[in-house]
Amino acid sequence: MRIDTENININQFTNKLFNWMKGQGKTKYDESVTQLEHSIQTAMLAKKFNAKSSLIVASLLHDIGHLILNENESKIDFLNYDLNHEMVGAKWLEKKFPKSVTEPIKLHVPAKRYLCTIKKNYYEKLSFSSKKSFNLQGGIMNAEEKNEFINNKYYKDALKLRTWDEKAKRKNMILTPINDFKKDILRVIKKESIND
Ligand SMILES: [Fe+2]
Ligand SMILES: [Fe+2]
Repeated sequence: MRIDTENININQFTNKLFNWMKGQGKTKYDESVTQLEHSIQTAMLAKKFNAKSSLIVASLLHDIGHLILNENESKIDFLNYDLNHEMVGAKWLEKKFPKSVTEPIKLHVPAKRYLCTIKKNYYEKLSFSSKKSFNLQGGIMNAEEKNEFINNKYYKDALKLRTWDEKAKRKNMILTPINDFKKDILRVIKKESIND
């Protein structure tokens, strides 16, 4: 994704980001909702559970890596490989957003692996694509991986994000306009990252 941030303010940057998400996000990743719907539904759940702005923004942008990588169902074999969308998304966002946004994004895949490891039946409740990607993403965690996960300062936020992520696949849901999340972005974005 190219968003030229030269000579634009935070407001303009957010508009560009949202417009790009609206266009790219029309594609489907999962069986039931578009990528934009999935992002908004995840952020709506974060808001419903009174999450702080950084976690609302992380929820809204957690799968931006799929959009950057152009991973969607128009590619027949898109579920047969793992391009680490969580890392790609977090890496792109880190210039503009603090760790409280990028770490839960980075950890939302390990969080699935962790929950499948410690909770019986968690795997069974996953969606088709989430099950399909599970083994490619590393499958069940060993003790060392579990330790590494829970030693990350943001692991609890990642677990919350993951549970919302799992639920944010409802068909025909009335969605909050994406612009409603602009104030959360404005609250957390690194002011120095953009010419204002
Ligand atoms: Fe994801
Ligand atoms: Fe997701």
